[in-house]
Amino acid sequence: MKGIILAGGEATRLRPLTRVTSKQLLPIYNKPMIMYPLETLLKAEIRDILIIVAPDHAGDFLHLLGSGREFGAKFTYEVQDKPEGLSQAFIIGADFIGHDSVTLILGDNIFEDDFSQPIKSFKSGGQVFAKEVPDPERFGVVKFNEQMKAVTIQEKPQTFLSSYALTGLYIYDNRVVEVSKNVKPSARGELEITDIHNWYLKRGELKVDIVQGEWIDAGTFDSLLKANLLAAKKSKAPLN
Ligand code: TTP
Repeated sequence: MKGIILAGGEATRLRPLTRVTSKQLLPIYNKPMIMYPLETLLKAEIRDILIIVAPDHAGDFLHLLGSGREFGAKFTYEVQDKPEGLSQAFIIGADFIGHDSVTLILGDNIFEDDFSQPIKSFKSGGQVFAKEVPDPERFGVVKFNEQMKAVTIQEKPQTFLSSYALTGLYIYDNRVVEVSKNVKPSARGELEITDIHNWYLKRGELKVDIVQGEWIDAGTFDSLLKANLLAAKKSKAPLN
């Protein structure tokens, strides 16, 4: 199993903070944001990790994380020239993935859950993780049937579909490389990861599990604040 952390993007919603640094390098309590998704992969014993960054501040990621040896891992770096969508991670990462399966995690996603079990026992197909949220329209949304089997997945639906958002951790078998090469840009001009989910869903090969613990997509000021408070609480440090 290979790991990819997607840490590019423009982070327009966090301006002016992101005029001076990258979103994924902003502090979440006592460490830069990217350390949280990195720890999620390391906890699941993924040791070969590709870090995809935007051109601006690329050197700062290398400065922070280095070769990976300090973490008992090996880090590889790639630059995504333009934020053309999440699916592009598998195209940029094609050589790195080689013949393996891959876990992609978004560089601004903070999870309490331990994904060791699903990652270590993964065989084939795809596995993604949903969480009930008050603002599903910000995310890819999954609708379940009565047996909690996923039936529909839609990117940022304009009318209410379900309150289950898909979180930013995706496990895919090696076919994802070829599937991603065939994804066409959406109306908003992005190569959507939803198209990849749907490719597997249509074949009955997509497993959708529920995230049990806290999950924060730290892409807005409010969620960034929430992530800071959660991290502070978890490290049991006094807040004042
Ligand atoms: P988003 O939060 O959807 O996009 P963004 O980070 O550019 O922020 P904004 O909407 O405020 O402009 O991205 C989710 C994560 O995926 C985040 O960690 C950035 C990353 N990303 C890329 O690395 N490349 C991309 O092409 C996109 C769309 C996102």
